Amino acid sequence: MRAVVFSRFGDESVLESVELPVPRPAPGEVLVQVRAAGVNPVDWKAREGWVGTGRPFPLGLGWDVAGVVVGSAAPEGPAVGDEVYGMLPLPYGAAYQEFTTVPAAAVAPKPAALTFEQAAAVPLAALTAWQALDAAGVKGGERVLVQGGAGGVGHFAVQLAKARGARVLATASGRNLGFLRDLGVDEAIDHTRGDLATVDPVDLVIDAVGGRVQRESWGLLRAGGTLITLPEPLDEAHRRPGIDARRVVVSPDGAALSRIGELITAGVVRVEVQQVLPLDRAADAHRISAGGRVRGKLVLTI
Ligand SMILES: NC(=O)c1ccc[n+]([C@@H]2O[C@H](COP(=O)([O-])OP(=O)(O)OC[C@H]3O[C@@H](n4cnc5c(N)ncnc54)[C@H](OP(=O)(O)O)[C@@H]3O)[C@@H](O)[C@H]2O)c1
Repeated sequence: MRAVVFSRFGDESVLESVELPVPRPAPGEVLVQVRAAGVNPVDWKAREGWVGTGRPFPLGLGWDVAGVVVGSAAPEGPAVGDEVYGMLPLPYGAAYQEFTTVPAAAVAPKPAALTFEQAAAVPLAALTAWQALDAAGVKGGERVLVQGGAGGVGHFAVQLAKARGARVLATASGRNLGFLRDLGVDEAIDHTRGDLATVDPVDLVIDAVGGRVQRESWGLLRAGGTLITLPEPLDEAHRRPGIDARRVVVSPDGAALSRIGELITAGVVRVEVQQVLPLDRAADAHRISAGGRVRGKLVLTI
């Protein structure tokens, strides 16, 4: 099978297309013919060497798949022929390839309304948003601010927070404010204009940007509020007493993905795909993702 792998850490030029044997599912796993693979920032971070895998080169890439089950070692899992989508367990990526193995418990039925490309855009980003909202125990009526609301995680976080009854604020640059409002955001805030300074305190900040944005998020919370950060560990030097703050790291969850699929099917959550590229343009996809301006998701078609 064709696969995009890398044999040393570095820039996009280390990506290479190779022929590999089709993997065999271990007990509890299914073999999926990958039709599309979602692209996430962790993909190029792994390529640069920021994600320890403990495995020798060459290393595979990609954690989001949508495809068809073509083999199974999981009697309780999906059947051969089922269309599924799912997130592979971190830290070893293996989605940029024609076939991959994935734990049966990590996949869910592909929502019928979505193409494979749209479905591949969902798992890692939507599960991150879902698990961040779970970690914060979001209930109806709370004010939730999503920093980076137009990105992969952010655009799911704003919609899932709305679905849980929150009043949702989100930041983006000016060109994405209309997009945020279309997603149901109550207060769309331009991060390039310092407009956050006038916002009333919020109950929860989900930080999908990091760095300066994480540091500034502490001051936007009411006493007793919650800060969930995603890109990096908490900068303890800026911790404020009375704020519950933690980093959430996403993990595969087929059951949650099924519920997210129901929300997609019901029209409560929509999937934004900025661009679909063929697998042999994985390097371009990494370049675009690392630019930090993607609206919704990038997807590779296999
Ligand atoms: N902990 C975990 O498990 C986990 C899981 C998923 C992702 N992550 C991390 O979380 C981060 C976000 O992931 P992602 O997939 O959402 O990334 P992404 O899709 O690449 O995010 C791009 C978006 O970020 C927005 N943005 C950039 N700078 C901003 C700023 N200063 N304020 C507000 N928005 C800004 C951009 O909107 P504009 O162009 O409009 O500014 C763009 O739409 C990445 O660092 C990723 O590695 C962590």
